[in-house]
Amino acid sequence: MADGFAWWQSGVIYQVYPRSFQDSNGDGVGDLPGILARLDHLQTLGVDALWVSPIYPSPMADFGYDVSDYTGVHPLFGTMEDFERLLAELHRRGMKLILDFVPNHSSDRHPWFQASRSSRDDPKRDWYIWRDAAPDGGPPNNWLSEFGGGAWEWDAATGQYYYHAYLKEQPDLNWRNPALREAMLDALRVWLDRGVDGFRVDAIHHLIKDAQFRDNPPNPGWREGMSPVRRLIRLHTVDQPEVHDAIAAMRRVADGYGPDRLLIGEAYLPIDQLMAYYGADLTGFQLPFNFHLLSTPWEAKALAALIRTYEAALPPGGWPNWVLGNHDRSRVASRLGRGQARVAAMLLLTLRGTPTLYQGDEIGMTDVAIPPDRVQDPWEKNIPGLGLGRDPVRTPIPWDGGPRGGFTTGEPWLPLGPDHERVNVAAQAADPSSMLALHRALLSLRRAEPALSVGRYEPVSAENDVLVYERRHGRDRFRVLLNLSAAERTVDAVPDAAHIRLSTHLDRGGEPVSGALRLRPDEGVVIGFDDKGKGGE
Ligand code: GLC
Repeated sequence: MADGFAWWQSGVIYQVYPRSFQDSNGDGVGDLPGILARLDHLQTLGVDALWVSPIYPSPMADFGYDVSDYTGVHPLFGTMEDFERLLAELHRRGMKLILDFVPNHSSDRHPWFQASRSSRDDPKRDWYIWRDAAPDGGPPNNWLSEFGGGAWEWDAATGQYYYHAYLKEQPDLNWRNPALREAMLDALRVWLDRGVDGFRVDAIHHLIKDAQFRDNPPNPGWREGMSPVRRLIRLHTVDQPEVHDAIAAMRRVADGYGPDRLLIGEAYLPIDQLMAYYGADLTGFQLPFNFHLLSTPWEAKALAALIRTYEAALPPGGWPNWVLGNHDRSRVASRLGRGQARVAAMLLLTLRGTPTLYQGDEIGMTDVAIPPDRVQDPWEKNIPGLGLGRDPVRTPIPWDGGPRGGFTTGEPWLPLGPDHERVNVAAQAADPSSMLALHRALLSLRRAEPALSVGRYEPVSAENDVLVYERRHGRDRFRVLLNLSAAERTVDAVPDAAHIRLSTHLDRGGEPVSGALRLRPDEGVVIGFDDKGKGGE
């Protein structure tokens, strides 16, 4: 940890998608004992914290993002004892555990929803969002579901519609109801009492909806091939001002357990709107996820502009963070190709702010084509063929070159990638030039040099496909040069008396740099200027 900074400022977060990390009992689905068995990999990699996607009881309509008990563990993933063992072992190793908190909606099988739908007079009726039909009997307004179709489901028994931003099996909770709010905060307290180090808070921008239930306006930017929900601008369904009170309430709960408990918020929003999620006087999320590397064109000028805009928009004291991938988005090695994925890893791990790594990206996993009869994701099932499905990015980690990649002894719930005999953790651990070796080297350099985690960010140039910036901390100074093209590039005027600390090709450590610097295709380098600059890779 860098002096004067919290663990989550200098640390690196690693996302575990538990269904696909490691299976321990042959049912083809990853589990908690599986994660425990693979902690050596994560520790050798050098990450500081695991964020684990939902492990709670769930009918799995949305693979755990439909929670039927906020304080339990799904038997598919193990027992509460397994959870406690994992947490204790992580802490013994000096690592943190972040759980996923899904406050916007529960499962329709949650006892709260069962009670809520049982009658209009049930005390929990108002814990969900119920509305009368429109005069013509149709839904109360034009709101659409993220996963296709309308967002209102008719309940014949009680003669009203309920709202679901995602699947109809995921009814939205009513955060305007104080009792519901307190019950959800209690779920946080239960896990904090058990010792978890924080939460990644799911779909937070959806949490509060317009109190007047006004129609959303049409989106003139919608085109054939885009997700149908985008036909409307989500003016009245996301990013409502009252969401910040609810986030502040979550933060007060977390802070009640000391300054080290972390809240990360998931909201896909433009930078100016995202900044509000730090909260007034930083009373919101410590880290509202910054997803902009996922959508910015992979060009030097565009990336330089993104970094500049984001840094400039941060509120005073607000800490930056960066994301290259997660369980919902196409993998970085597929978006950019494996060569640029190495450059992207260097960018992610040398920018100012907290990086989040998605499992499998450390070995350069790509999206895996899923045969139609093996599709699992409800989004793909509801709206086939548009490429919305997320199964391709959720396939199991290949740990070795065996038939099931060492992931399971049974039939994996999603197929392994066709290249898993070559692209796997064991093979890359034995190869000093592998993507895994690069991640280990980047993480160890970052840990050794606080300038690379907490140091100032200083832009240098963005010309001719090469992005150049510096990181400075005390008397330490590093320059990062990233060739974003698949052709050779020469960069002029690198100041004298520098040495390469790390190349994405892992073969230039210690090379002196003076004047012009030649970068090979898809090559990034970190150069050091001080007397510590001579170390090899
Ligand atoms: C978030 C999750 C996603 C899930 C959705 C609904 O976006 O990351 O996987 O389907 O919320 O909970």
